[in-house]
Order: sequence, then structure tokens, then C-alpha cells
Amino acid sequence: GGTAAAAPARRPGVTGKQLRSAVPLPEPYTVPLPIPSVLAPAGTSGGTDRYEITQRQATARILPGVPTTLWTYNGTYPGPTIESRRGRPVTVLHRNELPVPTVVHLHGGRTPAESDGYPTDLVLPEGWPDPASRRRRHGTAHMAHDPRAVTSRVTREYTYPLDQRAALLWYHDHRMDFTAPAIWRGLTGMHIVRDAVEDALDLPCGERELALMIADRAFAADGSLAYPALDPELRDRPGVTEPYAAGVLGDVIVVNGAPWPVHEVDAVRHRLRLVNASNARHYRLEAVTDDGRRLDLVQIGADQGLLAAPVTHTALPIAPSERYDVVVDFAGLRPGSRVRLRNRLGSGRTREVMAFRVTRAASDHSTIPKALCDDLPTWRRSQATAVRRFTFRAGQGQQGSGWYIDGKPFDPSRTDVRTRRGAVEVWRFTADVHHPVHIHQTGFRVLSRDGRAPLPYDAGLKDTVSLRPGETAEVILRFDGHRGRYLFHCHNAEHEDMGMMANLEIV
Ligand code: C2O
Ligand code: CU
Repeated sequence: GGTAAAAPARRPGVTGKQLRSAVPLPEPYTVPLPIPSVLAPAGTSGGTDRYEITQRQATARILPGVPTTLWTYNGTYPGPTIESRRGRPVTVLHRNELPVPTVVHLHGGRTPAESDGYPTDLVLPEGWPDPASRRRRHGTAHMAHDPRAVTSRVTREYTYPLDQRAALLWYHDHRMDFTAPAIWRGLTGMHIVRDAVEDALDLPCGERELALMIADRAFAADGSLAYPALDPELRDRPGVTEPYAAGVLGDVIVVNGAPWPVHEVDAVRHRLRLVNASNARHYRLEAVTDDGRRLDLVQIGADQGLLAAPVTHTALPIAPSERYDVVVDFAGLRPGSRVRLRNRLGSGRTREVMAFRVTRAASDHSTIPKALCDDLPTWRRSQATAVRRFTFRAGQGQQGSGWYIDGKPFDPSRTDVRTRRGAVEVWRFTADVHHPVHIHQTGFRVLSRDGRAPLPYDAGLKDTVSLRPGETAEVILRFDGHRGRYLFHCHNAEHEDMGMMANLEIV
């Protein structure tokens, strides 16, 4: 009996309303694809590579002819790419020259807690008042009190042991309540970890391996990035509330910081390492030739590295923060032909993502082996010492509506899950609408969706599972990384800022 709430409609990928740019936009597939530069270490000592990144405002020409002011890592969007070897530690000294506090998180990294970018471990800019004294003066300030926060002034050195499988990781801002606008303004970059397992395979490499950061943005009339105001008075204005609350979508798709770029390729296999760095947009990608033929997307890796065996897709859904490692074969395409990477969830221009222009035939020594690796964890349900359940849904709290886990908004002073290092657990997530759920520190395998087998896209070791509306998914994981205070949260960045985050304490 009783009145069951109406199940939300299963509208794939629709989260939030789309902002409209107020500047002329370029024709898709006219701007060349930028390749972010690979950062050189500032020094190396005792087997550790030491990097330095300055966070600062910079003006870029994302749209031809219009300047856009961004928040950047080292002056570019995306920030520089860091390339590392498994087990070779790295330090990154971040210097904050932005007008606001920042926090850096290496997404997918197995990082000691003090370097994981906990949302209150702020790097304060020069002249920014100390959060504790600020709280004393203003009573309960915007930011909840966190006695464990370790703030630093202007610089902070993050340490990454990178004792983990080869994978495409990415780094981004993670400040409490302000992650979404910081990511939107440009604070994202890629970090590639390589290892001997991957080296032993003849995967496409060099110019035939492309790391592609996909995101959406919208531009105001002066070329600046449009973003709904955080001001609560503005938030209540019609037309602002809904898109902000559900997640911000732009009408311009950018890949490596360029709108709908085009890239010249030889007619051979290419390895595309995709990361969805959008705040809220989901994509369903397909590679289509101009004469309408769909090319296979042969998935070889997931968020946390290689699959055991390749999985072939004709279309690939990718939620915010997910990574997919796919091989596309342009063999047999005549010089001059074009292959578009399209988004089946988009409409109009958001249906277009980027294009490849085939320039010439070339020899190809790459292979995609039937067995890619044999080091994937195979935890069994019977090993689990706990089954935990979490619901991700919209809620009402004291500060108004938000996005909550188990009815509660994020609170840094509360421990939501306490577990032991080495424990194997099953976590069961239920969602009202789309929520890409991400766990820090520990990769997981997807066990089930709505009691059935996982989807083909769930293969391998993941750190984000894309929950569909109304769905319950189970993942299995083992806390075999570091001890300390970590997070799990929805990676729709607006949901995260509006409370959909919780603490995970590994002891
Ligand atoms: Cu991509 Cu908690 O982060
Ligand atoms: Cu969400």
C-alpha cells in the first residue's frame, strides 16, 4: 500500500538546461585539435620527479577572435599533461595566484590523504583571510567548520606515489562548494600513468595516441565563460534555478580546449584516451564516416587502466569524470575522408564533438591483443565483509534544496563510512536521476545493475559508475590503498557542490 513516488522518466543523459552562448560560434571541424604540452619536471631527486604548476588567470582564444579569461594551470586550458611511470613518485608544487582559494585533486590517483585534495585543505591566495579568523568574525561563515583542515598559504606540495596501474588520470580543483565553477573556468588537466604491462603491448603510440578531454562551455557576449551565479538571490530567479540545480550544460563542445576541433590522422589505428571533464553533460559517442558508416570503438581500458580483453562498442556512453581508452581504425579510408566523433545524446551542435581528417595511407604495426592484461582484481561477493547502501537523490535541508546522499548534505566534520584497510566491501547505490558516482582512492568493479549483469561499458577497473535514473548498481572494492580521510561523491560537479558528497575514513 501507500503512495509510491512516481518513478522518474529514464531520459538518458538529460541533466539540466543548456546555457546559450551570446557570441558567434565557429563552424564545427574548422579549428585544429590542440595537444596539451607535456610538463617537464623542474627537477628530479632520489627517483622522484618534481613538477611545478602556477594557477593563474590567463586569456585564451577558445573561440576565434574572442578573448576568454580562464582560471588555468600554467596558463593553458587544459593544464599541462603530466606523464609518469607506475611506482615512480611525483611531487607537484602548486602555486595559487588566482583570486580565490583552491584545492587540487588527482582524480583516480591512489594518493596519501594529505595530498588528496580534501575540499577544505585550501591553498589560500596571498592576502586571503585565514578561514578560522574569518569564521570568528562572521559567525558561521559560508564554509562549514572543519577542525581537521590543513590550509596552506600560496603554495602547497602534493605527493603522488603513483603505485597503481597505468591509466589516464586527471587533475582538477576540488574546493568545497566551488568545484563546479572552478572546473568550468578551466582548472582541469590530464595525468597519464604508464607501466610495463602496457609497454609490452603494441598499442598505437606516439602521434597515434591521443588524450582527449571533452567538455562543454557557454560564452557570454564579451567572450567570458557564462556560468549561473552562485548568489542565492540570483539562484531563485526563474531560468537560473533549474539549470544550476540540475547541472550546468554549455552549447559549445570543446575537446582539449578547442570548439569542435578537427585532427589530421594517417589511415591507421589510433588510440583515443577519452575523459569527460564536463560539469554535468553525458555523451554517447560514436565515430561516423561522412558516408554514414559507423566505425567500431574497441575499448581497451577503463577509468583505472587496461581491461582483461577488448570490448567492441558501436556507441559509448561517457558520464562526467569517466575515462574510456578506445582504439579506432581508420584503415581503408581514402585520403580526404572525414570521421566525426558524434554525441547521440546531443541535439544540433551539441551532437557534434570532433572530427578526424584522414590524410594518407600508412603502415600500421600496432595490434590489439585478445588478452590485454591479467592483473585485474577479481573480488568475489563472498569475500565482502560489509554491504553498504547509499541513496543519491534530491533533498530539502536547512539551507534549501540540494543534492544529498542518504538525505544528508556533505559535512566535513561527519564520518559517513569508516572502514578498515584491506576490507572487501559491496557498495550499493540507488539514484533518482543520473548520478555518476565516484570513489576516491580505490578502484572498483561493477557487480550488477538493477540486479542484472553489468553493462558492456562497465568492464574493467573503474572509479566512477554512471547511475541511470531510478537505477540501483552494486560495485565491489577493496580498500588496499592508503589510510585516512577520503571522499565519495556524485561527479556531476553542481550536484557535488550542492551537497552530494560524503566522507570515507579508511583506518
Ligand atoms: Cu574528480 Cu572527488 O573527484
Ligand atoms: Cu548527481
